[in-house]
This record gives sequence, C-alpha cells and structure tokens, in this order.
Amino acid sequence: MKYTLLFLAAAGNALALTEYSGPVPKLRHKPFGFAGQATGGSTNSSAVYVVSDAGEPREAVAFPYAKTIHVNGTIQGNQLPNGTLARCQDYIDMTEPPGSAVHGFNFETYLLSLNATYVSLVEQAIADNTPFEGRNATEYRTLLGHQNGYRLVVAATQKAQVGFKLTNNTSLIGWDANAALNGINLYLSSVNNIWIRNLKLVPPQDCFPAPETFPSSWNALYDAIGLVTASNVWVDNCELQDQLSGEYVEPDIIEPGWQVDRFDGLFDCEDGTDNVTFSHNIVRNHHKSLLLGGGTKEADRDLGKMRFTIFGNHFNGSASRNPLMRFGSFDIFSNVYETRNDNPPRFNDASQAGRRRRRGALDRTPLDAVFQYHLGVYNQSRVQVQVNVFLRHGAFPNDTSRIFTISEATLSDRPAKVCIRETPPHFPSTMNGVAIASLSEVVADTVHFFVDSGMAVDGAVVLTCDGSRGYEVPKVLEDSGDVLEYVLSEAGQVLDETRRVEVDAMSSSNGVSSGVEARGMGRWH
Ligand SMILES: *[C@@H]1O[C@H](CO)[C@@H](O)[C@H](O)[C@H]1NC(C)=O
Ligand SMILES: *[C@@H]1O[C@H](CO)[C@@H](O)[C@H](O)[C@H]1NC(C)=O
Ligand SMILES: *[C@@H]1O[C@H](CO)[C@@H](O)[C@H](O)[C@H]1NC(C)=O
Ligand SMILES: *[C@@H]1O[C@H](CO)[C@@H](O)[C@H](O)[C@H]1NC(C)=O
Ligand SMILES: *[C@@H]1O[C@H](CO)[C@@H](O)[C@H](O)[C@H]1NC(C)=O
Ligand SMILES: *[C@@H]1O[C@H](CO)[C@@H](O)[C@H](O)[C@H]1NC(C)=O
Ligand SMILES: *[C@@H]1O[C@H](CO)[C@@H](O)[C@H](O)[C@H]1NC(C)=O
Ligand SMILES: *[C@@H]1O[C@H](CO)[C@@H](O)[C@H](O)[C@H]1NC(C)=O
Ligand SMILES: *[C@@H]1O[C@H](CO)[C@@H](O)[C@H](O)[C@H]1NC(C)=O
Ligand SMILES: *[C@@H]1O[C@H](CO)[C@@H](O)[C@H](O)[C@H]1NC(C)=O
Ligand SMILES: *[C@@H]1O[C@H](CO)[C@@H](O)[C@H](O)[C@H]1NC(C)=O
Repeated sequence: MKYTLLFLAAAGNALALTEYSGPVPKLRHKPFGFAGQATGGSTNSSAVYVVSDAGEPREAVAFPYAKTIHVNGTIQGNQLPNGTLARCQDYIDMTEPPGSAVHGFNFETYLLSLNATYVSLVEQAIADNTPFEGRNATEYRTLLGHQNGYRLVVAATQKAQVGFKLTNNTSLIGWDANAALNGINLYLSSVNNIWIRNLKLVPPQDCFPAPETFPSSWNALYDAIGLVTASNVWVDNCELQDQLSGEYVEPDIIEPGWQVDRFDGLFDCEDGTDNVTFSHNIVRNHHKSLLLGGGTKEADRDLGKMRFTIFGNHFNGSASRNPLMRFGSFDIFSNVYETRNDNPPRFNDASQAGRRRRRGALDRTPLDAVFQYHLGVYNQSRVQVQVNVFLRHGAFPNDTSRIFTISEATLSDRPAKVCIRETPPHFPSTMNGVAIASLSEVVADTVHFFVDSGMAVDGAVVLTCDGSRGYEVPKVLEDSGDVLEYVLSEAGQVLDETRRVEVDAMSSSNGVSSGVEARGMGRWH
C-alpha cells in the first residue's frame, strides 16, 4: 500500500511540465560587463516554463534547448518527491535500507570520533575490560572509527537532494519579489550562457560539515551558486543570504563549545570559469560570501580566464570575501559595502588603536559573524576598483585597514596588480560619507602591513593600471552619492516593470505615496 502511494506521488510529480505562453515579467537590466554576451534562454521565446516545486525545475533544465524557467514562489531544496521537507536525520534514514550500518551515523558521535583524547579514553576502557559510558567499549570504538566513512555516504544523500545542476543556455528568473530558492545549491559545471535573475537565493545548510579547527572553522559544502568551468554567466537582481528572512544564522553549539557553521559560500567560482557579471545583487549577513578562484591547484586553468564584473551590488553584513580574488581580472565598480566593524585597525591609526577592545565573555557575537575584510587580493589577481561606498557602524567605523586583505602574495615575478581608478577626474570612494583621500595609499599601507607581518613579500602586489575597462556599464556613476542612490534603488529583487507601473498608478491615485516609495515597497517585500 505504502509503495502504491509513493508511486502515485512520483507519477504526479512527473506530469509533463507545460510551456507557458502568457505575459512574462519585464525586468529592467540588460547583460553587460564580462558577461555582456550572455543571452541565457532568451533566444527561444517558446521555451518558457513556470515552476513552483522542487521537481519541476529539474524537469525544465533537462530540455536540450535554450529555455527560460520562471520561479513562482518559494521552492524548498529539501522537499522530497513525496512532498515532505527533509531534516538532517531524514538524509541519514533515507540512505540505504532500514537496518544498514550507515544509520549508526550521528553528528555528535562523529565529532567525538575526531577527539584523540576522547578516543584514548574509550581505548583505555577496552584495555581495562570495562564498559564506556554504559556501552560495550569495543563496539563503541568500532562505531567511532566508522563515523567519517558514514558521514561521506549520508552527505551524498543530502547532496543529491539539494544540488541542482543548470544546463547550457538557461535563464532562471524569479517571477516577482517573492520568488526564492530556499536551501538549494545551484551548480553550474562546464555550462555556458546562463542568466540567474530576480531570485532570493538561500544556500543549503550542510547537515554533515567537517571541522577544520576548534571551535568555529568548518568545511561545509553547498554554495547558493557554484560555478566550475562555467562561462557567460550573469547574476542580477538577486538576494543571497543565510535564510529567507535575511537574518544571519547563528552557528549550532555542540559540546564542549563547537560553533558549527553549516554554510559555505554564496557565490563561489573556480576552475577556469570566465566572463561573469555579478550585478545589482544584495549579499546579506553571511560569513564567506564570494570566492572567485579555488586556489593554487587550479592556477593553470584559471590564468587568462576568471574575468568578473562586480557592479552595483549591496554587500550588507558580509564578513569576508566580497570578493576573494585569485588568478583573474576583477572589476569592482560602484558597490555599497555596509557593515559593523568592531575590530581595531590593523595599522595606521594611533588614536583608535588605544581603544583596542578585548572580546569579553559578554560579547556573544559568533566568531564567524565578525567582519574581517571586503576585498581579498590573492595570488596573481588583477583588480580594478572604482567608486565604492563604505558605510560603517560599530566600535571602529572609520577604519580603512580592512577594505583590502592581501594573501598568497609571494611571487614578485608574477605580482597581483591593483588599479585604483580614483584620481581626478574620477571621484573617490567614501567611508561614511567622507572621501577616502587616497585609496591607493590604503592599498600600499595594507601591503606594507602584510609584508611587515611576514605574510607577503615585497613586490608581490603592485599598484598599476594597465588597460581600460573596455565595456559600458548600465549607468556611469561618477560620485559616491550617485552610487549610493543607484545601488539602494537598483540592487535586490524587483517587481516587474508592468506591475511597477500599476503599483505606481495605484499609489498616485490614492495620493498616498510617491512612485519611489511604491518601488521601494516592491523591492523590500
Ligand atoms: C525552442 O523551444 C522549443 C520548445 O518550446 C523547442 O522545440 C525548439 O527546438 C527550441 N528552439 C531552439 C532554436 O532551440
Ligand atoms: C547554446 O547556444 C549556443 C549559441 O546559441 C549554441 O551553439 C548551442 O548549441 C546551444 N546549446 C544548447 C545545449 O542548446
Ligand atoms: C504563481 O502562483 C500563484 C499561487 O500559487 C498562482 O496564483 C499564480 O497563477 C502562479 N503564476 C503563474 C504565472 O503560474
Ligand atoms: C517521504 O519520504 C521520506 C523519504 O523516503 C520518508 O522518510 C517519509 O516518511 C515520507 N513521508 C511520507 C508522508 O510519506
Ligand atoms: C575532547 O575530549 C576530552 C575528553 O572527553 C574533553 O575534555 C575535551 O573537551 C574534548 N575536546 C573537544 C574539542 O571536543
Ligand atoms: C563487547 O563486544 C565485543 C564485540 O562484539 C564482544 O566480543 C565482547 O564480548 C563484548 N563485551 C561485553 C562485556 O559484552
Ligand atoms: C555546454 O556548453 C559548453 C561550452 O560551450 C560545451 O563545452 C558543452 O559541451 C555544452 N554541453 C552540452 C550538453 O551541450
Ligand atoms: C570570454 O570572453 C572573451 C571576449 O569575448 C572571449 O575571447 C573568451 O573566449 C571568453 N571565454 C570563454 C571561456 O568563453
Ligand atoms: C543593512 O542590514 C541591516 C541589518 O540587517 C539593516 O538594518 C539595514 O537596514 C540594511 N541596510 C539597508 C540600506 O537596507
Ligand atoms: C568617523 O568619521 C566621522 C566623519 O569624519 C566623524 O564624525 C566621526 O566622529 C568618526 N568616528 C569615530 C569613532 O572616529
Ligand atoms: C601562486 O600561484 C603559483 C602558480 O602560478 C603557485 O606556484 C604558487 O604556489 C602560488 N602561491 C601561493 C602562496 O599559493
């Protein structure tokens, strides 16, 4: 009986997805920058689908032609074929038949199995021929030994459920400002020509992450969007964050004080990815946000590729990697960086250094929520920066020493290159409304700090501008006031243009609010 029901549920899910021929939302922006050639699915106006559950998008991406997939409402990544929303224990239970050994996996037990002191206590109990914590010590030792192996097996079950592969020539577009992929890992592997627009994107929380160091450094899987050897990808008007509400997700606390960070990146790109534009997005309240370059092991495939335009985004409460950059060309133009900064300056500020604060027992901010830096200049990156806006609160609001971080700067024959396009006639970036007199000097000071600390070598990061931008941006924003106004009005999800007109007309006929407020309403819902 149970099997019949399951079969019917599966059959219901497999009902052919039908093409949608009604009016579709009209969004404002066009692709530009390094992904300016991307057309997504827009070249085929007949292949349009509207999806609203976890099964339908999988069906739609399988079509072997250019297509546009509109997301209507919230799709839950953990929605099983029978409709239930899986919890972590379900991924364990679903792996292999009932009674399988792998069901002996338990996350707390796994953490204990990594603790050499704890394991030696169990081994002592075996030697003493006594039970351990009321269990047969020999059997318990065996169970501990299997935990990491089991972890990999049950993790594969979660991955199959929450991972979602896109195919060539696809547009994935939120129908309106309610559209969300909640707990989905969009995976773009060796694909070309993708649009991802107008969506709230919440990455899956990894049920089975591996700790790196006690208590708070973890290796979790699942980005909201992950690009591996992908090209021509445009991400616009999206909101990337830990959960639907936008609030930061506190780590789980597990004895004796583990702070389990179940998140990886929001937008991580690697392995020879190329021609990407990340524009008009909001990146909120996250720890490690944009990783552009997977590391030295990928250098050969990255060098000469990895071209990114990062324009018009609002990074709000993003603690690090906004972005982290390796082996490519990165244009960081007209973004707003808003954050709390309680870290004392790393250098160059005697007045504030005196007020150095220790993280006391009363400061309960989890370690991974603490602001670290905005722009990570790593191995052989070529970074261009022009008029960004920094808004800060917290104990050290005006500190510029963490705008940049320098890392892997060890090769002076192949230096990272930073170009600050802020000398007149260009306008400067601002910090809390005040012009940063010389962002080039900030870069130079940051490099000196890292060289002095022994973390970088002289000449491995140079300030130089070779070449020009080479493409048009949607709006030339000269001064930081324009940038702030533009980003606050353009970044994040939107109503479509046609509905915007209706909303504007409604509000003005009511005489209550201006069009600007009506737009704001659409944006923030
Ligand atoms: C466009 O989509 C239709 C399905 O609606 C498909 O049959 C056709 O092959 C596609 N055309 C191209 C040029 O990809
Ligand atoms: C994607 O589009 C390109 C260019 O239009 C075309 O050459 C290619 O065959 C398409 N691929 C698929 C899978 O439709
Ligand atoms: C989107 O979902 C809503 C609520 O289920 C439904 O009323 C509406 O018709 C859907 N829109 C489209 C285009 O399918
Ligand atoms: C749905 O499927 C999961 C996984 O197979 C199972 O554990 C759960 O009991 C099912 N729920 C219902 C209501 O059938
Ligand atoms: C490791 O186990 C010992 C003994 O049970 C315990 O005192 C210690 O807190 C544990 N450490 C960690 C990091 O779990
Ligand atoms: C503990 O388990 C082992 C292996 O199953 C078994 O050989 C041993 O007799 C058990 N010890 C006790 C005290 O039950
Ligand atoms: C998708 O596009 C890439 C790059 O153009 C190409 O190498 C790959 O074969 C395409 N995949 C399919 C399934 O057509
Ligand atoms: C990226 O765009 C440039 C310029 O259009 C082009 O030469 C290059 O081949 C593209 N890269 C990939 C991987 O398609
Ligand atoms: C930035 O985030 C904070 C905290 O989530 C919020 O209070 C603030 O309104 C956001 N800024 C803007 C401009 O929306
Ligand atoms: C930050 O700079 C602003 C503008 O110059 C100034 O009013 C404010 O007092 C400064 N805050 C601190 C804590 O130094
Ligand atoms: C930097 O990249 C080069 C490859 O070009 C590699 O050999 C070197 O180890 C990298 N340095 C670091 C610190 O990762």
